[in-house]
Amino acid sequence: MNGHRATTTGPARQRGFTVWLTGLSGAGKSTVAFALEAQLAAAGHHVTVLDGDVLRRRLNRDLGFSPADRQENIRRAAEVARLMNDAGLIVLCAFISPQRGDRALARDIIGAELFIETWISTPGAVCEQRDPKGLYQKARAGLIAEFTGVSAPYETPLQPALALDTSAIPLDQSCRLVLAHLAPRLKK
Ligand code: ADX
Repeated sequence: MNGHRATTTGPARQRGFTVWLTGLSGAGKSTVAFALEAQLAAAGHHVTVLDGDVLRRRLNRDLGFSPADRQENIRRAAEVARLMNDAGLIVLCAFISPQRGDRALARDIIGAELFIETWISTPGAVCEQRDPKGLYQKARAGLIAEFTGVSAPYETPLQPALALDTSAIPLDQSCRLVLAHLAPRLKK
């Protein structure tokens, strides 16, 4: 027994684990997560995405972007991922999660052996140029406070399992690299 955690897995007897995608807004975390979800599902795996923008609409709608609120956002997401992993699901988490300490907390909650930190390392200048939601422009204009990469810090991962710069490689290559890394776990 792993503490109080279930040792049995979901209906497919799949072992759950979490791929934790961290990086700036606009780096491509959600895009990679949803593309991976589709590919893993097509291969017959039980998989879901936990996405910052999505969770902040409901479960985490009471939270803002202060360091304390971001930590609570990450803590709740990690607890949900842990439950889903226990049920046998592969979970793909897409959160800026800019604070090293918060990612360490997520790792502790999920379990180090089930936590695969993946840095979407797309440079800030590229993210700002993409600006898919127009948020960088608003942040530069002073309309959004504590915006990551503009007026709030992003602490780069020191030892990520993977680092993917989506401005340097195409989406399908990012997916291939993650799937190659996951291959030993997917065989089990
Ligand atoms: S985290 O920092 O707490 O991990 P999370 O990934 O949940 O952030 O949410 C990030 C998304 O919230 C961004 O992609 C963006 O759409 C939106 N957002 C709104 N305000 C901010 C802000 N001040 N800093 C970063 N993202 C923000």
